[in-house]
Amino acid sequence: MTDVIDEELLIDAKNICMRFRLPTERIDNVKEFFIKLVKGRLKYTDFDVLKGVDLQVKKGESLGLIGRNGAGKSTLLRILAGIIEPTSGTVVTRGNMVPLLKLGAGFDMDATGKENIFLNGAMLGYTRKEMLKKYDGIVEFSELGKFMETPLKNYSQGMLSRLGFSIAVDVHPDILLIDEILAVGDAPFQKKCAQKLDELKAGGTTFIVVSHSNAQIRRLCTKAIYLKDGLIVDSGDADAVVRHYEKDCT
Ligand SMILES: Nc1ncnc2c1ncn2[C@@H]1O[C@H](COP(=O)(O)OP(=O)(O)OP(=O)(O)O)[C@@H](O)[C@H]1O
Ligand SMILES: [Mg+2]
Repeated sequence: MTDVIDEELLIDAKNICMRFRLPTERIDNVKEFFIKLVKGRLKYTDFDVLKGVDLQVKKGESLGLIGRNGAGKSTLLRILAGIIEPTSGTVVTRGNMVPLLKLGAGFDMDATGKENIFLNGAMLGYTRKEMLKKYDGIVEFSELGKFMETPLKNYSQGMLSRLGFSIAVDVHPDILLIDEILAVGDAPFQKKCAQKLDELKAGGTTFIVVSHSNAQIRRLCTKAIYLKDGLIVDSGDADAVVRHYEKDCT
């Protein structure tokens, strides 16, 4: 990925297409897979999840991605994060971007909470020394102090999302990508997350939010994109796009 030219533009994605290949028959084991592969008998169908999506996000804006289950929202977010390559199209980003995606993504489940904080920090480009300074703040925010020496495989889903959120917000990203993660913590933690997000927003962080909570999209985002069958049905002012989606869902 290269830097964008326009100073104000944080994300510039053009004509993003994503095609997944799905096996059309059940394959029960690896041996069967290789036999079929060698014999050229693997049957696939191609499945176009994104069919030419354009989006731009400027500094000071935040974007919501909405649409029904399977519309391609998470796929688009993973492409923007650089986790998967689109089949075609280009993504250009500027600034430091932190993906807060599926629970546990980027975590080593056999390592302890403490080890994972340093591991995640390293992935985000922080030195051990920098992370040592941040460590106490992250642990305090997560309220998981008692569990820092516990391997993540013994964490609950809510605990994993707390840890992920606490690390992500402490690094003050320019762009924070959020996929359905905010609904997981318990009510007091959700409240704390909401306050933290407001703080980041006031500090100029741009959010790209995938959520089925229309209230959340309205609160966090200035603009929204409504995806359906791999295409953008509507885009623009968040409130107007959410209203359009709500109308289609009733
Ligand atoms: N790695 C993959 N291989 C094959 N198909 C995939 C893969 N990832 C996603 N898909 C398919 O792409 C489509 C879009 O998935 P995606 O997860 O982007 O939807 P979504 O809009 O995030 O849905 P939801 O609201 O349920 O989270 C789905 O039909 C899914 O089965
Ligand atoms: Mg999704």
